[in-house]
Amino acid sequence: MRSTFALQEDVIYRLKAAAALLNISENTLRNHLRDSGMEIQRANKKNPASPAVRLFNIADVFKLARWRREQDLVKKVSAEPVVIAVDLIKGGVGKSTTAGELGIQLGLLGYRVLMIDLDVQSNLTQLMGYESDLTIDEAAEHGLSDDAIVTGTFATICTQFMDSKNGRGNKMGNVAGVIKRPFGAHGPALIPSDTFLGDLEQAFTYAKGNRELVFRTLFKESAAGDVPGFNVNEYDFIIFDCPPSISFSSTNAIAAADVVIAPIRMDSFAVKGLSRLVSEINGLGERSPEVRPQLLILPTHYSTNITRVSRMQQQLQAYKGNLSPTVISASELFPKTQENYLPLTLQMPTAGPVGEYRLFTEFLLSMCAKTKGKQARTAEV
Ligand SMILES: Nc1ncnc2c1ncn2[C@@H]1O[C@H](COP(=O)(O)OP(=O)(O)OP(=O)(O)O)[C@@H](O)[C@H]1O
Ligand SMILES: [Mg+2]
Repeated sequence: MRSTFALQEDVIYRLKAAAALLNISENTLRNHLRDSGMEIQRANKKNPASPAVRLFNIADVFKLARWRREQDLVKKVSAEPVVIAVDLIKGGVGKSTTAGELGIQLGLLGYRVLMIDLDVQSNLTQLMGYESDLTIDEAAEHGLSDDAIVTGTFATICTQFMDSKNGRGNKMGNVAGVIKRPFGAHGPALIPSDTFLGDLEQAFTYAKGNRELVFRTLFKESAAGDVPGFNVNEYDFIIFDCPPSISFSSTNAIAAADVVIAPIRMDSFAVKGLSRLVSEINGLGERSPEVRPQLLILPTHYSTNITRVSRMQQQLQAYKGNLSPTVISASELFPKTQENYLPLTLQMPTAGPVGEYRLFTEFLLSMCAKTKGKQARTAEV
């Protein structure tokens, strides 16, 4: 039985594609297989007439990626998780796509990733293979296991956490069941969303203490082992996909973040939402000096319409120091492939925009290596 809507068993990679996903040569991959002792199914096992080529599935690739990390073949970024918020108060700019593709890219590098869907629209949740309103009966009809059902969201964890702080003696239960593993034990994890995520906004209104720092405090206590079933130190990266609306959740995600990624649509006319985001980051920093996320602007939907792009670039001049040197091109492949409940990177490992997300991921990693620990301040613009 499948545990996600994606037809993952139909996605198989030959050696070349698996090496491309892991960003290593075919020879290195062969050596890794020898050294790790990992067995990969051969095509002739299913069909004796086929050549004996190896057929990797998605879980195999993430398992190898994790093995690489365990062998120290991947640079360590930080002892604590790097927290990333993908945020902009403007709809359809590529937040969920960026959160998902980045999560997969980091997972393919061997990093332990947790993605958190903070949007009731559940786009990231769908991208990872889940329909949030699925019932047990519907799951069975689709040939899906109980794992396919969303049984909790980040609201489940946060509301319990806030309740435990309200002085009435409520203890937190074990929240491990909320965390999904769509690509097997070694792939990126997901805290999905459903309509009950809306409860979180309401819970903030009666939260004790600083309402902007609930996620941050939760992470601190989680790292100390005080949140049963949820330890942030089990991850190298935690990525929040924020909603396009003003919300306590987004503010909390920014306040917990080391890096705020703001995708900007280059086929639009204005860098809408950006100045608001910058003042929100700066305002948070003034109220709580320990909050110092670095802003990183990612141009998306990049096209060759020179007039429009140069007008946008002029508007972005003010944010020069925070601009990603790499961009994501406009590509129909995103909306087309997202219908399959699987990120583009896993469906078309060698497609152009996948390479662009890889370059962006590499830039982000170089930025994290420089700033993590030093706690760089956001540019004052
Ligand atoms: N680089 C791109 N080129 C073309 N289409 C894209 C690109 N990135 C994302 N899309 C498409 O644009 C739409 C919006 O993308 P996405 O859901 O990632 O944006 P969002 O900012 O999360 O939206 P919302 O504000 O509603 O949460 C989707 O249909 C997606 O497939
Ligand atoms: Mg979204």
